[in-house]
Amino acid sequence: MDRNIRTVEDVLRLLDGLFTPDANRWTVDAGDWWDTFYTDRSRPVPFFVDKPDEHLVAALDRGLITPRRALDLGCGPGRNALHLAARGCAVDAVDLSPTAIAWARERAAAQGAEVRFLTGDAFALTTTELTGPYDLIHDSGCFHHLPPHRRVSYLSLIDRVLAPGGHLVLSCFATGAMGSELPDEAFYQDSHLHGGLAYTPEELRWIFSDLTEIELRRMREEPPDAPTFGHPFLWTAIFQHP
Ligand SMILES: C[S@@+](CC[C@H](N)C(=O)[O-])C[C@H]1O[C@@H](n2cnc3c(N)ncnc32)[C@H](O)[C@@H]1O
Repeated sequence: MDRNIRTVEDVLRLLDGLFTPDANRWTVDAGDWWDTFYTDRSRPVPFFVDKPDEHLVAALDRGLITPRRALDLGCGPGRNALHLAARGCAVDAVDLSPTAIAWARERAAAQGAEVRFLTGDAFALTTTELTGPYDLIHDSGCFHHLPPHRRVSYLSLIDRVLAPGGHLVLSCFATGAMGSELPDEAFYQDSHLHGGLAYTPEELRWIFSDLTEIELRRMREEPPDAPTFGHPFLWTAIFQHP
């Protein structure tokens, strides 16, 4: 059938398809791209370390968030999901890449941690898979790899599964430091996400304007021997669902 748009999801899928498979980091086959990304664990990828993000640990330590049920969105090999579990939180963690999830399961087994890992597109999982409500949605580095139109899916996921009073803890590329600063339409013109999208604080405040800002700051630089992960090319933000 040549006429294939009836719903908002049909439009979003059509836009996904504008990004060609080698345009990396978003296509309907983005899972394959990410899966290949995780096959060699010895690569010097900063977030391959098994350490939680410094701002997540700080938010927990300061009592800014006190989650009992959390969702780690785009969890990769699970470093933050495992930290949340170690702090007594019931955690669901989802990633597109089966290889990342297999690695995360290995880490969980080695640490005796219990996390409910799910493989798949977070925005396509059903309500039986992503049950919610969560009092924390945590995202370290997934949001900035989404094409602009998938912000619609991101916001509707928050709306669907984040409990009233719950928090979104996010880290993403900061303009002037990392990621592409092209305007949204350029990604569609180029069929390419250029390694991820950089955001300004104002853009983040605008996108998440239905939530209340609790904190927005650069991630602190953490030395290699620190117990936490920290690189200042990222914004870290805490927003609260009213
Ligand atoms: C930069 S990595 C960060 C991994 C992990 N959060 C960490 O910090 O160690 C981004 C992750 O988001 C995942 N991802 C991207 N889009 C996704 C989607 N729609 N659903 C689930 N996971 C997704 C990718 O597979 C990848 O593992």
